[in-house]
Amino acid sequence: MGKTILVTGGLGYIGSHTVVELQNEGFDVVIIDDLSNTTIEVLDRITSITRTKPRFEQIDLKDKQAVQHFFKYYDIDGVIHFAASKAVGESVIEPLKYYENNIATLTYVLQEMTTNNVSNFIFSSSCTVYGQADELPITESAPPKPAESPYGATKRMGEIIIEDTTKATDLKAIALRYFNPVGAHESAKIGELPLGVPQNLVPFVVQTAAGIRKELSIFGDDYPTTDGTAVRDYIHVVDLAKAHIAALGRLLNNQNKKACEYFNIGTGKGSSVLEIVNAFEKSTGQKVPYKMAPRRAGDITAAYADTSLANKELNWKTELSLEDSLSSAWKWQETL
Ligand code: WQD
Repeated sequence: MGKTILVTGGLGYIGSHTVVELQNEGFDVVIIDDLSNTTIEVLDRITSITRTKPRFEQIDLKDKQAVQHFFKYYDIDGVIHFAASKAVGESVIEPLKYYENNIATLTYVLQEMTTNNVSNFIFSSSCTVYGQADELPITESAPPKPAESPYGATKRMGEIIIEDTTKATDLKAIALRYFNPVGAHESAKIGELPLGVPQNLVPFVVQTAAGIRKELSIFGDDYPTTDGTAVRDYIHVVDLAKAHIAALGRLLNNQNKKACEYFNIGTGKGSSVLEIVNAFEKSTGQKVPYKMAPRRAGDITAAYADTSLANKELNWKTELSLEDSLSSAWKWQETL
């Protein structure tokens, strides 16, 4: 078998799509997931896509001893760390849950990696660290802004913890700052699991089209944008998954230039909320009833990536279109 990669949170939305791409590339994958925000069924669905069942350990990374035992038992060549709580609104209500689950667990994983000489680490970060950037498109040299939520704070804190660890140990790390992941695998066997009322735009649009939600509320139509609705960079989750493979290759081949590198992973194109609604209706033929509503607290006006650094240094670029993202999201919804 090829090199062994640990994927924490590997049964989650982005994690499961990354496991599929890792297996497609011949890596041997071990998944750790606590199943707090997914179901074990995703493991069989990954297997039905790749015909190779990843090894799986149900571990809560807050259990430091379990993390220690894992790294004693498994011989790991690299770690891709997705495991974290990610609901922005919930983090405002339960900050300590987010600091414990997103930060304490990160330190346990990094401690056991350094103890066991596992030196390749990829971190799931977010464009949320930029807040409302002063310049668009956003480059990796844009200064991080004060976080709008404890969730966003844990992403920037995580980056700082990793940077400090790479300076003090042999750890090599790449932090991928995701823009807005959307869509689902073409097989429609994995996708974003609808657990509770969707907080993110595309899952809500899809459930509205399916009649599960009565209508979409568009949060704000008075932003200084072409149509008054907020702009984001919506990237197909499979393109995002492939960026992790590219980053892993850079670390395994020791091409990374310094201890910790950052890459903005988006399409480089901004789309407004209304443009998403229209593109969804056009690519699926489904209607999405909506109404205008007040702005959502903490939202920024616009964010989209300058992807030139990732294009060049990771030799990676997006291959799937916004229509691919939206039609795959609908095809996934139809299986639910
Ligand atoms: C996108 C746009 C909303 C829902 C967050 C996190 C980020 C990452 C992705 C987790 C905004 C508008 C939304 C709705 C709407 N998180 N919207 N009606 O806020 O850019 O990013 O999710 O992994 O770190 O910050 O994404 O999809 O919530 O919102 O009008 O019912 O859609 O106001 O303008 P966001 P989003």
